[in-house]
Amino acid sequence: MSLADLIGKLRSDFLEELKAAVSSKDLESLKVKYLGKKGPVANLMLELKGCTQDERPHLGKLINDLKEELASHCENSIARLKSEELQSQFAREWLDATLPGRKRPLGRLHPVTQMLQKVIDLFIGMGFSVQYGPDVDTDYYNFEGLNFPPDHPARDMQDTFYLNHNFLLRTHTSNVQVHAMESHQPPIRIIAPGRCFRNENISARSHVFFHQVEGVYIDQNVTFADLLATFQEFLSKLFGEKVETRFRPSYFPFVEPGLEIDVRCTRCKGAGCRICKHSGWLEILGAGMVHPNVLRKGNIDPEVYSGYAWGMGIERLAINFFDIPDIRMFTENDLRFLEQF
Ligand code: DAH
Repeated sequence: MSLADLIGKLRSDFLEELKAAVSSKDLESLKVKYLGKKGPVANLMLELKGCTQDERPHLGKLINDLKEELASHCENSIARLKSEELQSQFAREWLDATLPGRKRPLGRLHPVTQMLQKVIDLFIGMGFSVQYGPDVDTDYYNFEGLNFPPDHPARDMQDTFYLNHNFLLRTHTSNVQVHAMESHQPPIRIIAPGRCFRNENISARSHVFFHQVEGVYIDQNVTFADLLATFQEFLSKLFGEKVETRFRPSYFPFVEPGLEIDVRCTRCKGAGCRICKHSGWLEILGAGMVHPNVLRKGNIDPEVYSGYAWGMGIERLAINFFDIPDIRMFTENDLRFLEQF
């Protein structure tokens, strides 16, 4: 085959393959295949050496034309296919920039946790430190060490979940008082937040489990006036003076004298509702001067030391603070409720 024929054949072979190329990638390899250093067009140039001097300029021009023609075919087709490919990629990845974004739900603290943190912060501000005690404890720490003798009727005030004859779910955080006195000599100034359990009927105002913050302050010359001042300060800081409070005498075996503190029911503003049992007041804490028997059991000399203690119901407080109609809402995990805090 003459060189001129070879040139013609190469062109038609190339055009054939060009038709078959469907992607810019195919074209890139086609370009390398024909126009690469060791490809057929470069070979033609070598063939040129075997031709006569007369033929060379003409054939050389033919080869150069072929080379340019193939190169421009390749460039044009590559550019066309690349732009087509880009457009179909855009079509696939189409995005409506005017659509509103997807919201990521934000987590938040449970209202009981928020209430606990407020209370803890206020007492820390008054110099108390935080101590934790066990939810599962013995009869001694929950009752006996707090001056509840066996079979004492006061035990009936708190219906207890017993695990066996000795272990129980604590009915109040007062067990931490006993642990604290056992391991520390005065001055003792602690608060003890935690969960408590009682075998009671569930209603709008009480539940089988709830939270308390216990507190105990024992030192020389601690008086009832200190107790009252502490709570006046605490309640006015918490409610910002807005809420009316009531202190009234009460009985707990581990204090003498004992009292309860009520706040005006924010739900009914004192008019009476099922939350406050129609009394207009909500009992939020029990308190008193630590009983000498309790101090003695904790190896603290009641002749030298005195102290006050309290236990505060956090759900009761939160009901009033956030104006919540039913204590059961805290544990129902209804997002419509939880998202309001
Ligand atoms: N533990 C009591 C209760 O759960 C509350 C209480 C009353 C705690 C008087 C005290 C206290 O520390 O001094 O009903």
